[in-house]
Amino acid sequence: MTLTTIQLFAVHRGAQLTDAQLQQSLQTLPLEDQQRILRYRRWEDRQSGLLAAKLARKMLSEELSVPASDLQIRRTELGRPYLHGFADWQGDFNVSHSGDWVFGGITTQGVLGVDVEGLREIEMEVSKHCYCPEERDELYSLGGAEQNAFFYVLWTMKEAYIKAIGTGLSTPLTSFGFDIPSLKEGKILLKDDQGVPQPQWHFQRYDVDDAYRFAICSDQENLPGSITLLTRDEVLN
Ligand SMILES: CC(C)(COP(=O)(O)OP(=O)(O)OC[C@H]1O[C@@H](n2cnc3c(N)ncnc32)[C@H](O)[C@@H]1OP(=O)(O)O)[C@@H](O)C(=O)NCCC(=O)NCCS
Repeated sequence: MTLTTIQLFAVHRGAQLTDAQLQQSLQTLPLEDQQRILRYRRWEDRQSGLLAAKLARKMLSEELSVPASDLQIRRTELGRPYLHGFADWQGDFNVSHSGDWVFGGITTQGVLGVDVEGLREIEMEVSKHCYCPEERDELYSLGGAEQNAFFYVLWTMKEAYIKAIGTGLSTPLTSFGFDIPSLKEGKILLKDDQGVPQPQWHFQRYDVDDAYRFAICSDQENLPGSITLLTRDEVLN
C-alpha cells in the first residue's frame, strides 16, 4: 500500500501588483482563467484569484513533474476544479481564498477540500442556514470571542467538507454537522443528516493568522500538522 502524502500551502496576497506584473502572470494562464480573474472588480479579488490559479498549477506541476503550462484544469458542473488528462493520477487538489490569504492543498490519493475565512463580526441569523440544531445550541451557549471563533471553526470545516465532496452549496449546510461532545474533547467527528457518524472524513484546523481560520477535510487520514508558507514570488514565478 502506498502512503498518501498531503501538502498544504498558503500565500499572503500582499500589496497590489503593478499592471505589468499582473498582465505578465495572467499570460501564463489559459484564456478562460484570465477572463475569469479579470471579471473580479476589486484588485484584491483579482490578485487572490490569480494567486489561487497559480498555486493550483504550482502544486500540480511539482507533484506530477509536468510544466504548469501543460496542465489542463477543468471544472465540474458544480464548479469544482479538477485535473484533466492524467487518468492514472489518484490524487486531488483544492484552493480557497479569503481576504489576505490564498490557501491550497494537494493529496497523492483520495480527495480533499480546503477553506480559509477571515474573521468578521458574525450574524447569528446566518447560523440558522448553516448549522444544525446541536451546533446552534453550542454556538448560542458561548459568548464574545469564543462564539466568534466557534462560528468560524464550524464554517471553515463545513466549507472544506462540501469542497472535498465537490458539491459546494448544493449540499445544504444544515444537512450535516459535527458531534459537539467530540469537539469538546478536541476530536472532530462528522455526522450525516440522520446523526450517523462519518468517521471516514478527517478534519484539521490550522493557526496561521489570528484573524483567519484555516481548515482541511479529506478522506485520507494522515493530514499534515502544518501549512507551508510560500512567498508571492514563489507562486507567481
Ligand atoms: C464555491 C464554494 C465551493 C466555496 O466558496 P467560498 O468559500 O466563498 O470560496 P473559497 O475561496 O473557499 O473557494 C473558492 C474556490 O473553490 C474552488 N471551487 C469552486 N467550486 C467548488 C466546488 N463545487 N467544490 C470544490 N471546490 C470548488 C475554486 O477553485 C474556487 O476558486 P477559484 O474560482 O478562484 O478557482 C461554495 O461553498 C460557496 O459558494 N460558499 C459560499 C460561502 C457561504 O455562504 N458559506 C456559508 C458557511 S456557514
